[in-house]
Amino acid sequence: MESVPLAEVAQAHGTPCYVYSAAAIRHAYTEFEVAFATLDPLVCYAVKANGNLSLLRLLARLGAGFDIVSGGELSRVLAAGGDPGKVVFSGVGKSAAEMVQALRAGVRCFNVESPAELRRLSRVACELGLQAPVSLRVNPDVDPGTHPYIATGLKDSKFGVAYDDAFALYQEAARLPGLRVVGIDCHIGSQITDLDPFVAALEKILELASKLRRGGIPLSHLDLGGGVGIRYRNETPIALADYARAVAPRLEGSGLGLLLEPGRRIVGNAGLLLTRVEYLKISPEHRFAVVDAAMNDLIRPSLYEAWHEIVPVRERQGAPSVLDVVGPVCETGDILGRGRSLALAEGDLLAILSAGAYGASMGSNYNARPRPAEILVDGQAMQLIRRRETVEDLFRNEWPMP
Ligand code: LLP
Repeated sequence: MESVPLAEVAQAHGTPCYVYSAAAIRHAYTEFEVAFATLDPLVCYAVKANGNLSLLRLLARLGAGFDIVSGGELSRVLAAGGDPGKVVFSGVGKSAAEMVQALRAGVRCFNVESPAELRRLSRVACELGLQAPVSLRVNPDVDPGTHPYIATGLKDSKFGVAYDDAFALYQEAARLPGLRVVGIDCHIGSQITDLDPFVAALEKILELASKLRRGGIPLSHLDLGGGVGIRYRNETPIALADYARAVAPRLEGSGLGLLLEPGRRIVGNAGLLLTRVEYLKISPEHRFAVVDAAMNDLIRPSLYEAWHEIVPVRERQGAPSVLDVVGPVCETGDILGRGRSLALAEGDLLAILSAGAYGASMGSNYNARPRPAEILVDGQAMQLIRRRETVEDLFRNEWPMP
């Protein structure tokens, strides 16, 4: 990782552990800034992809804004020194307490997802004597062509407001005393590798924005959400320059500022999960490498049948064999990689790639497994940015009943 041998990381911090590259994160963030430069976008990094405080601080120092979906994520952003004025608050189930927290912090915008939420937000803001800046998250009903669990812009998804209902709801928003309508938002899904759905969504959203302007509800920004995919295996990711070239002419003359909410594209390929082979379990019936990382550390392969490249830290001579890389968790589905061709011996280190996004952030303690350490590499320096949990951490909030 950059100039630090992964074997040294394992030596210093043990396995399993997440290792991130600061240079890769800076590069990926800057790519958005550069590609969309003529539109002067606010790039709101989606905290859910990876909310480690050090990564948030790194991004905050580059000028990033943040897309949050909970009071917890807001607290993380603030603890990391993020600017609340650059925070957008998404999510279908914001509680009144979270609204209060975000209003007091002074977030840039609430992306509201239902009529009931809109009314609650107005009420909560009035009680505080404040006005909440709002966008509606509008569902453009386009198919992003991605895994059904991460497609969010279709009519039947739980997210957003139906396209055909949005105009009337904007009129209501404009009347509600606790609200100030500032923008429009959409997010159609994740790991999208085709530009067409983004363009289709943009066109529908722009059409609505101009109808709103004509109807006396001018907006100041358009938030296109996140969802830009990365390469895990053999995908061809969208070139951000192409994305920007598609957006710029359509946005021109609309008077709308641009917000983006990328998560995966910024941190996904900047991180890996480092793990050690515990056992080789090879017989006529079995072909397994049992490693010390598991589905509780990285759930994407189990949950979405997602592919993560797995490479040995040190190549070994000898014929590779085809095996499944599995973890110690007591679930048949605890598979990190199926049918991988690897030459391995017990004790070898493996790197599970493209694990920077939705890896650590979706980790759990299933099977009473402490969550792994996280390490940030920057050039020749390695820094522990989250210590490995201890078993005591796991039952800190419990006690055997008296
Ligand atoms: N904005 C909103 C409102 C979102 O819901 C999401 C992701 C993003 C932005 C960032 O999307 P990205 O740029 O990272 O694609 N756990 C799944 C992904 C779930 C995505 C949820 N929403 C996975 O591991 O693939």
